[in-house]
Amino acid sequence: METTGKNFVTVEKSTTSKIDQIDFDNLSFGSVFTDHMLVCNYKNGAWEAPQVVPYGPLTLDPSAKIFHYGQSIFEGMKAYKDTEEKVWLFRPLDNHKRLNISAKRLAIPEIPEEFFMKGLKTLLKTDENWIPKQDGSSLYIRPFIFASGQGFHASPADEYKFMICLAPSGAYFSGKVKVLIEEKYSRSANGGVGYAKAGGNYAGQFYPTQLAVEKGYNQVIWTDDNTHEYIEEAGAMNIFIRINDTLITGPTSDRILDGITRKSILEIAKDQNINVEVRKITVSEVVEAAKNGSLKEMFGAGTAAVISPIATFGYKGTDYDLPELPESYASSLKKLITDIQYNRSEDKFGWRFEA
Ligand code: PLP
Ligand code: COI
Repeated sequence: METTGKNFVTVEKSTTSKIDQIDFDNLSFGSVFTDHMLVCNYKNGAWEAPQVVPYGPLTLDPSAKIFHYGQSIFEGMKAYKDTEEKVWLFRPLDNHKRLNISAKRLAIPEIPEEFFMKGLKTLLKTDENWIPKQDGSSLYIRPFIFASGQGFHASPADEYKFMICLAPSGAYFSGKVKVLIEEKYSRSANGGVGYAKAGGNYAGQFYPTQLAVEKGYNQVIWTDDNTHEYIEEAGAMNIFIRINDTLITGPTSDRILDGITRKSILEIAKDQNINVEVRKITVSEVVEAAKNGSLKEMFGAGTAAVISPIATFGYKGTDYDLPELPESYASSLKKLITDIQYNRSEDKFGWRFEA
């Protein structure tokens, strides 16, 4: 066990490594994990010192509240290696802030910034060799907090674990993305937890998404729970719609996650003199635009997939194909944001963060 300088994070190194078994040229998303993980326990009303330990299973009491009441939240971020082998994060303090916004909503104790950042940096240093150098690959970082405290009483737990696991990853989607605009199910509701990254939000998406997959689509476009007339999110991504040369995305709300990729794209697009509108957008407007040819692009935006162009959307039994543009906003914005992330361009926004 060692503590690193002034860092209060302890490190217990794994005696073996799985790294030689990994095919870094053919990484899928989030399916292989590095040799270590971060664990930080909340007990007796306080977070204890974070520990980097060998990656492995946990032992939990069957009455732990995570299993019964779903008290669990997570974040998604990435670490990028540049050509000089320097490691970069993208707006990590925003992930920390959002984790605590989620924590508050789920009655989970907030994690101090120092625990999050020092824990993350120490873990990244320990598993530095796992950060892919291959183009388009990165190290997906999954911070999460869940209720490990026991008891069937339907109330917040008294013990929690804050953990971080790392997964060297390639692209989230492969091939063309075909989405179905949802007319019945909802991801979130006013006054609910849609703006939080609560585990249960994703569990609730699985069944409607399975139904869409059975019909030949990859993802659901979530609409508002009240009228199903407003476009809100694309699966686990924020959504952008280009009508003629205007790029539109919905305003964040109780129901929509305040995506870091979304807000970065908005700033980059404005900087590129792209006309940007943050406003409610109706399904009828999009269908009408598809019919009259003014609908140029639709894409999802999120950490895992970065920017994921939509090739086709389905609505009320009709499929609408998007045009294939030689110079799309999706591809130019993706290049601009990933160039910042991988330290291939100047970062005038101050988003890049040396790990
Ligand atoms: N919307 C939802 C529901 C998400 O789960 C995510 C993923 O984190 C996003 C949007 C995109 O957010 P970000 O760009 O911060 O990853
Ligand atoms: C991300 O984009 O980081 C997400 O958290 C989406 C995830 C559900 C894979």
